[in-house]
Amino acid sequence: MSERSDLQGRHIVLGLTGGIACYKSAELVRLLTKAGATVQVVMTEAAEAFITPVTMQALSGRAVVTSQWDAREPNNMAHINLGREADAVIVAPASADFIAKLAQGRADELLSLLCLARPRERCPLLVAPAMNREMWSHPATQRNVATLVADGTLILGPGCGDQACGEVGDGRMLEPAELLDDLIAFFQPKLLTGRRLLITAGPTFEPIDPVRGITNHSSGKMGFALARAAAEAGADVTLVAGPVHLPTPRGVKRVNVMTAQQMYEAVVPHASAYEVFIATAAVADWRPANLSEHKIKKEGKKLAPTFELTENPDILAAVAALPKPPYCVGFAAESENLLEHARAKLIRKRIPLIIGNLGPATFGRDDNALLVVDAQAHHALPADGQPVDKLTLARVLMQELAQRLQAVQA
Ligand code: C5P
Repeated sequence: MSERSDLQGRHIVLGLTGGIACYKSAELVRLLTKAGATVQVVMTEAAEAFITPVTMQALSGRAVVTSQWDAREPNNMAHINLGREADAVIVAPASADFIAKLAQGRADELLSLLCLARPRERCPLLVAPAMNREMWSHPATQRNVATLVADGTLILGPGCGDQACGEVGDGRMLEPAELLDDLIAFFQPKLLTGRRLLITAGPTFEPIDPVRGITNHSSGKMGFALARAAAEAGADVTLVAGPVHLPTPRGVKRVNVMTAQQMYEAVVPHASAYEVFIATAAVADWRPANLSEHKIKKEGKKLAPTFELTENPDILAAVAALPKPPYCVGFAAESENLLEHARAKLIRKRIPLIIGNLGPATFGRDDNALLVVDAQAHHALPADGQPVDKLTLARVLMQELAQRLQAVQA
């Protein structure tokens, strides 16, 4: 979940229709407002059977609208006013019946009326279905959903799993945090639509014996932020992650690995199929030459054990040396002389772009300050050098990457 104000200044109409998932919409209102949005809740009569307008009013800080005959509106046209004010309408949960109504363009109560009356070119409609798996998979529902998509509606989910009816399958409403992330992503500029990006992140873990190993303090946060920002920008993203406990960003394919060798295998043979490779992983330079099959015991030893180390392959350099390499972006975590070291790495690895950061100042943290270095020039990100959160940085980097890709392909 985001602590940034990703929806600052956005006004969202949240429509609730009849479904047990209405209880999740209460949490969704909290998340939307925490992210900076103002939220106007609109409820159908069926939604009121599941949750009260009192709850939704208290959470949104605005009176809930439930009827097209609500005389509080000076012009008595709630269905027009609501859509004109909103940056987006999101219906969550959207019942099978409501989806059918939308597909037919019916408008016999306030929510469907405002969905039909909203200015489509500047007020998008997002729909989060929530229903029993049989209802979801029914050809009628699938037909209706296809109609909504053809009409320009964005369908969020549904998720798969346990259902309130006791059955298991497709049709659950997405979790509030997932809906929030999807809405935030929806508002991001689609600068990388159709581009394929491969990203490594996190540390590697090089085992010494079954219980010990060599690793480092990389948290993976920068790489995961880049993967999320790339997916938000419309890219098709694969994230090869070392051992970290971070949630996979929405829409990102994740491949988990442990060692540098595994990361190499997960990346190098596939890298030519991507347009961009971003190496944020802090790959261990060396691994123990021999893996002890059993735990190395302290008892009965006078001297501490010694280990022979062997060098790990350089994944980034190997990708850059492919006959058809993707556009390669490296990271340089240094403790001093950032520009000098970053430039030296750029040349040594034969890559067009490297991002320098001060390792001890950023490892494990949510914020960072970067130095963007290519063969000719360099600049600080942010320009004043003051750390900002990693997702904000990642989004700016994606804008820059989109420009650089256009330039190399021009
Ligand atoms: O050589 P050094 O580790 O300082 O370079 C850092 C950059 O190279 C990072 O982008 C890192 O992900 C990548 N790297 C790699 N494989 C290695 C070592 C580093 O991909 N074995």
